[in-house]
Amino acid sequence: QTLLLGQTFVADGNPFLEPWQEVIHINSAGALLIEDGMIRAVGNRNDLLCDHPQAQVQDYGTHLICPGFVDAHVHYPQTAIIASWGKQLIDWLNSYTFPEEMRLANPDYARQIAARYLDLALDHGTTTMCSYTTIHAHSVDAFFDAAATRGLRSVAGKTCMDRNAPDGLRDTAQSAYDDSKALLTRWHGQGRATYAITPRFSPTSTPDQLSALGALWAEHPDCPMQTHLSEQPDEIAWVRDLFSNARDYLDTYEMHGLLGPRAILGHAIHLEPREIDRITESGAALIHCPTSNTFIGSGLMDVAGLAARQIPLGLATDTGGGSSFSMLRTMAAAYEIAQLRGTALHPAQLIWLATAGSARSLHLHEKIGRLAPGYEADLTILDLASTPAIAQRAGQARSVWEVLFPTLMMGDDRAIADVWIAGHRHAASSG
Ligand code: GUN
Ligand code: ZN
Repeated sequence: QTLLLGQTFVADGNPFLEPWQEVIHINSAGALLIEDGMIRAVGNRNDLLCDHPQAQVQDYGTHLICPGFVDAHVHYPQTAIIASWGKQLIDWLNSYTFPEEMRLANPDYARQIAARYLDLALDHGTTTMCSYTTIHAHSVDAFFDAAATRGLRSVAGKTCMDRNAPDGLRDTAQSAYDDSKALLTRWHGQGRATYAITPRFSPTSTPDQLSALGALWAEHPDCPMQTHLSEQPDEIAWVRDLFSNARDYLDTYEMHGLLGPRAILGHAIHLEPREIDRITESGAALIHCPTSNTFIGSGLMDVAGLAARQIPLGLATDTGGGSSFSMLRTMAAAYEIAQLRGTALHPAQLIWLATAGSARSLHLHEKIGRLAPGYEADLTILDLASTPAIAQRAGQARSVWEVLFPTLMMGDDRAIADVWIAGHRHAASSG
């Protein structure tokens, strides 16, 4: 048994649907009992110290113990091309992304990048990630093997594309179905792995491929299905040309059996009213990728409006379209985008999005994303005074939220004091 002492971030509900003051609490004298990789008790420091005198104690002082961050949309193969200059979505894919994804045809390179990505993510406090891969089946094995080595709960699937991608980076409708099925059988539910059926987006899949993946999903409805939706106006116009019989972008998925409660739709910025209604009815989750949406010039997602419709929302870096591996930086960008739309997201809402919200969007909300008994002990410990700039602002604070907010706005990997994975303290990589 291990007893962690510190400030604790405790969420008992959705702070977008209920007043955050009622459902989110920071316990400044909090404690967490961990045993066999699980959280056994959450409470007050003195109570848990008294109840568990034999437990090994780790005292984090005024650091904030949070659920591990959950990054609900990343492309691990794009790790090495993060921060590539000067392009918007389609040109960015053709100039930077596809050439790099081609390099993962080499299984050794795929393994190297998977390890590099996961170590960077962990250093930034991310303990679960939902990743795209490349069209190569071994890129999925590389990712899940590397995640298993580190003990991580993770989600990924083979990225399927059978058109509008260069030679060497296309599969077919049949091979996408066959390879995805074989990978799903190998990985889904193995240890902490979840397999996600992954058509990249409508422009790079023929209707045949979308149908084949829709059929696979119907055979395995407990798997999530991830794809992209309505990220940029040029992309949406292209989809309209490619699918002249579809009512809108969402319909290109819906008509092929690719809309349902376990759908995970990235970006979803420029939505039609019909699309919002159908997403709401279907139970699909939308993933906010704020640093990507500004970096690639995509637009300002209506987070508050969509959350109010009770649509499950997650938060994500979208590495490497996003410009950071850090979920702290991502929370800052989410705050800034909401400000541009006239809403101030509260720090309680931002951390909730990066933990319980993302976990819910991946249907992992009964396992991770909360500090509560019965949850897996994936934790991120935040130093709320990690740099002189943050410390001097936090020192002026009049409330615990005012202490925390500068870390959300200005923090990076230096704010990650520790990470725990399934009850084990993770030794930070030296790189
Ligand atoms: N749409 C289709 N593929 C991608 C991708 O790799 N990144 C982003 N940001 N959008 C996409
Ligand atoms: Zn993406």
